[in-house]
Amino acid sequence: MLDNPIIKAMMNRKSIRKYTDEIPSDEVIETIVRAGQQAPFSSQMCSLVLSRDRENIPYQAPISFLFCVDSHKLETIMEKKGWDLITNDIFLFLMGIQDATLMGENMVMAAESLGLGSCYIGKIPYEADPLANKYNLPKRVFPLIELVMGYPDESPPPRPRYPSDFVLFENEYPEFSEEQIEQAMKVMDEGYLAQDYYRSGNRMIKLKGDREETYTYDTYSWTEHISRRWGQRHESLDKLRGQFTKRGFKI
Ligand SMILES: Cc1cc2nc3c(=O)[nH]c(=O)nc-3n(C[C@H](O)[C@H](O)[C@H](O)COP(=O)(O)O)c2cc1C
Repeated sequence: MLDNPIIKAMMNRKSIRKYTDEIPSDEVIETIVRAGQQAPFSSQMCSLVLSRDRENIPYQAPISFLFCVDSHKLETIMEKKGWDLITNDIFLFLMGIQDATLMGENMVMAAESLGLGSCYIGKIPYEADPLANKYNLPKRVFPLIELVMGYPDESPPPRPRYPSDFVLFENEYPEFSEEQIEQAMKVMDEGYLAQDYYRSGNRMIKLKGDREETYTYDTYSWTEHISRRWGQRHESLDKLRGQFTKRGFKI
């Protein structure tokens, strides 16, 4: 693999969940956001709400950004131009997610370059409506994800990733061999176990229903974690759909 300062920074980035008391200056914040804005965009369908309310920010980070998919600004401009938006909300929203996500990752890397760390918080869509009320968001603005940020007070190792042959396929999607799947699972599980990731953060997801617990922190790792996470949470669509409806999106 080739190496240069940008690749190095990307390969060394990790989510930070412990922060010092140092407060990022306004200049640092403005630089990070401006660099974020320079990400590729579909229609700049993203707005950020900055919070410095450390007590209420996950991991007591000094600042956080609430990333919102924002069709309000787009529609305001279109109205001035004499146009109605007729694109369906699912396609519009998919584009908006990408605008927000690309901006977010630009901000993550800009922050890294200035010595800050960050961590995304993913539960936000389920709290979209209360957050909208708290921050006075107009309709057609949907809180998507939170990015907490500050100066790191921990230095965990970079986390494992799937082997490249489980991610990049040339010309066609392959039929996975048993060994390939086993190898991908092994890389992830052994990688996280070697870092004691789940034990150190007490991150084991409890089993629901009548499944019997057979794992300890000596064996519990990434593939078990994602299976429990996506196999026993957030089944109902209604609650989430309600959040979209309240925010004025037809999803
Ligand atoms: C969409 C998304 C949602 C996430 N939600 C959370 C979260 O709620 N809490 C958390 O501690 N980390 C969260 N993360 C961070 C991931 O756990 C982290 O990126 C992943 O474990 C890989 O670790 P790394 O970022 O250190 O490489 C989220 C990341 C993404 C991209």
